[in-house]
Amino acid sequence: MPAELIDSPEGTIEIRLIEPSLALRLRHEVLRPHQSIEEMGLMGSDQPGAVVIGGLLSTSGEVVGTCAVAPEEPPGALGELVTDRPAWRLRSMATAPRLRSRGIGAAVLRAALAHVKESGGALVWCNARTAARRFYEGAGFVAFGSEWDEGAIGPHIVMWRRTDESKGNRDERRAKGS
Ligand SMILES: CC(C)(COP(=O)(O)OP(=O)(O)OC[C@H]1O[C@@H](n2cnc3c(N)ncnc32)[C@H](O)[C@@H]1OP(=O)(O)O)[C@@H](O)C(=O)NCCC(=O)NCCS
Repeated sequence: MPAELIDSPEGTIEIRLIEPSLALRLRHEVLRPHQSIEEMGLMGSDQPGAVVIGGLLSTSGEVVGTCAVAPEEPPGALGELVTDRPAWRLRSMATAPRLRSRGIGAAVLRAALAHVKESGGALVWCNARTAARRFYEGAGFVAFGSEWDEGAIGPHIVMWRRTDESKGNRDERRAKGS
């Protein structure tokens, strides 16, 4: 996967695969500040096939954007609706607050989708925070089913998309109508 480069006021940001441990500080700050890093754990990045994408500042090496993908069956009703396999789950999507709305999240997500596609994955799904729903919609994801509350983390909804958009949207239309 060729690395994508993004300009920022703090220097160039390189988007590439990283060691899972390098993402922990940013995940903790953005996604799980109510837990210790030990309680947070690896959030699935130790599953077979899992990879972590990072956006690294060239000046310091700091990880300022991240997400992770791993093979995992979609939750019940979505799995019954969509027959394309294999499916991968997207997790731990985060951008450093001071560098948001500069395209880092979109680039990290593009790299994750490219990795899944190169690995033969047909479908990517996630438990999305509803606050980030429009971000995922901008990347071609659609919502499935009803929202639920994850306590301290807030409301969530399942979102998904194919890695190959040319496959059409028959199932997406059915999912939206569900
Ligand atoms: C969601 C998040 C990762 C986006 O990162 P980012 O680097 O700011 O995203 P980008 O700059 O690439 O934004 C891409 C698009 O999504 C939009 N967008 C980003 N965050 C958004 C949000 N929270 N709500 C609505 N739209 C959003 C941007 O406006 C942009 O749209 P555009 O391309 O039309 O300009 C970041 O806001 C974040 O870390 N949020 C807190 C953690 C979180 O909710 N993670 C998702 C867990 S499921």
